[in-house]
Amino acid sequence: MLGIDLSYFDGLFEARRLGLVSDHVHLGLFADAVQGQTLAMAQDEMSMHHLRHLEVSEGGHVVDVGCGFGGTLRRLDQQSGGLSLTGVNVDPRQIEIARRGIWRSPVDWLLCDAAAFSNNRQRWADAILSLEAMFHFPDLAGFFAASAQALRRGGRMVASTILFGSGAEPASVAVVCAGFGPWPRPDLGLTELCGVAESAGLDVLHVEDLAPRCLQSFDWMCPHCPEKVTDNPVTELRRLFESGAASYPLLVLAPQDQERATA
Ligand SMILES: C[S@@+](CC[C@H](N)C(=O)[O-])C[C@H]1O[C@@H](n2cnc3c(N)ncnc32)[C@H](O)[C@@H]1O
Repeated sequence: MLGIDLSYFDGLFEARRLGLVSDHVHLGLFADAVQGQTLAMAQDEMSMHHLRHLEVSEGGHVVDVGCGFGGTLRRLDQQSGGLSLTGVNVDPRQIEIARRGIWRSPVDWLLCDAAAFSNNRQRWADAILSLEAMFHFPDLAGFFAASAQALRRGGRMVASTILFGSGAEPASVAVVCAGFGPWPRPDLGLTELCGVAESAGLDVLHVEDLAPRCLQSFDWMCPHCPEKVTDNPVTELRRLFESGAASYPLLVLAPQDQERATA
């Protein structure tokens, strides 16, 4: 697995084999006005929300970096054929699951780190997605540089992650990072994240925080938080979301104008 320990996935493979989890490994996006939403429905909405921002055009080449079990790529494949798709992951076990079944569009599966997905290739992707995966990446600058290199002119990128604010309870953050590691930069803030993307050659067009709409996800995953910090990473992530100390930024990015970027 390219030397990366993603042991929180071990239980997910068994749950997946038993049909207990879908092919979305991310929080759900709930809407206040909609009654009877399940976690699965909200996870699908989270994928669709990212895809709406991505504005994929017919015939485009779409890359999903940190693609998990391929849920969002498959959603896209179901709604529009005639695309070229690439799924990127460091974990061969996830790629093996993601590639199963029928795909309408051709899919390349790349087993590599997020910073290495575009090695030796320039301007070949129309859209790059990364849903709830960047907090794992050991080389964020390399990931954004690879994305800037891969995107064609007029291309677009949508990337989301989880960040902790300065008021986050350190003991909770430690439990979350141990349980959902690797999490190399728990201290990373939004300003620095956007700065890293801009230094790599991407303009940040839009930022939104989806955290308030993710909260209901935890009702499906764990009991309410007890007063004292626990050793359960899901409970502690819930505590950080509920206290407002965790955010879930979604960034929409585009390659900087070449002349301006090199000026
Ligand atoms: C929380 S899961 C999200 C999966 C998927 N995006 C989804 O929404 O279902 C995080 C994903 O990032 C992948 N990942 C972790 N470190 C990575 C790295 N260095 N490069 C590429 N992918 C990585 C994991 O294997 C996992 O698939």
